[in-house]
Amino acid sequence: MIRLSTRYQGLNTRLIHTGEKPDPATGSAVPPIYQTTTFAFPSNESMLDLMEGRSTGHIYTRFSNPNFAIAEAKIAQLEAAEAALLLASGMAAISTAILTLAGNGDHIISHADIYGGSFGLLHSLLPNFGIATSFVDAADIDAVKKAIRPNTKLILLESPSNPTLQIYDIRQVANLAHEHDVQLIVDNTFSVLNQKPLELGADVVVHSCTKYINGHSDVMAGAIVGTQAFIKNCSDVYRKLGGNLNGFDAWLLIRGMKTLGLRVQRHNENALLVAEYLQQHPRIETVHYPGLPSHPQHKLAADQMTGFGGVLSVELQGGQLEVDQFLNRLELFTRAVSLGSVESLITQPVTAVHHSVPESYRALGGIKPNLIRLSIGIEEVADIIADLEQALS
Ligand SMILES: Cc1ncc(COP(=O)(O)O)c(C=O)c1O
Repeated sequence: MIRLSTRYQGLNTRLIHTGEKPDPATGSAVPPIYQTTTFAFPSNESMLDLMEGRSTGHIYTRFSNPNFAIAEAKIAQLEAAEAALLLASGMAAISTAILTLAGNGDHIISHADIYGGSFGLLHSLLPNFGIATSFVDAADIDAVKKAIRPNTKLILLESPSNPTLQIYDIRQVANLAHEHDVQLIVDNTFSVLNQKPLELGADVVVHSCTKYINGHSDVMAGAIVGTQAFIKNCSDVYRKLGGNLNGFDAWLLIRGMKTLGLRVQRHNENALLVAEYLQQHPRIETVHYPGLPSHPQHKLAADQMTGFGGVLSVELQGGQLEVDQFLNRLELFTRAVSLGSVESLITQPVTAVHHSVPESYRALGGIKPNLIRLSIGIEEVADIIADLEQALS
């Protein structure tokens, strides 16, 4: 991995340059795309050297690839971490991190207002492999403490949560976890650059790079971030599960990350202005956005985040008819799942991302039928508000 001198500390500088140097073969200023499955060896002996760890290099794209290495170096910078592992999706990252830490007979703690895919993994799939999960109110530290069992291996936390934008105290949960020899994994997809869970005490960070890190709704990817030793263990699991990306998508991710700092700044600014606008609108019952002083955990959010992100959710007055009318009238917003892209996206969680989450867990997580999630893009904010205004009128 190519390391940038410690003289250059600015995160935007490091996101642009880390892991890169002009291509020695051609002088290309931008890294080539290594769209290859396999890598040639000058001799049979050199292949054995690499297999047995006496030299470094790439063997097969399911194990590693030069484009992955560049993206991983940049992603590690994002979390000020020792290392990162790039995978095919956020779910590949979450499942690989979990399966590195837990196995048959183990126990996990999480909360119900978590991304629907993560909920499905914990609630429906992992029990088939003997891994049970307790879903608790993660804001109630006594409830988290009570849920810890001798076989608890990890806590999976999302803060802000998806889609209710609850804020959980990462420091407090990390301290509790460590008292019981439990690892804390934080899904930091919503808060890339706005929050550093490892600095707050988390052991591992996972990302859906499909969202802000790539930022253009054209790449699926994920990452696990942590210590060198943990990433090495994840890498062993990953090679067996086969959750790798490909050279071209990693290259797009590298390009996306060069504007990440600018994009996140604009997402933060736009989302706050949209939240303030929606808060005073008579057709909106509640706005969930941690940047608003009216958010119940605004103080905690301000303490553990440096920006509040581009996602907010609202509870609309009325029932399904009103929700349908509002969503169908929008012109600029794209009615679609996903988030964190340059364009504004909107979705009703109970019809899409959280559709398969059982009623009882939706109620536990506060995922109401009239809840609408908005991912605010980087368009002109006046245009975003104009679209909301005409659709709500
Ligand atoms: C918070 C969060 N984590 C993880 C994921 C899963 O990521 P992917 O779709 O890249 O697998 C998502 C997807 O929406 C998400 O919102």
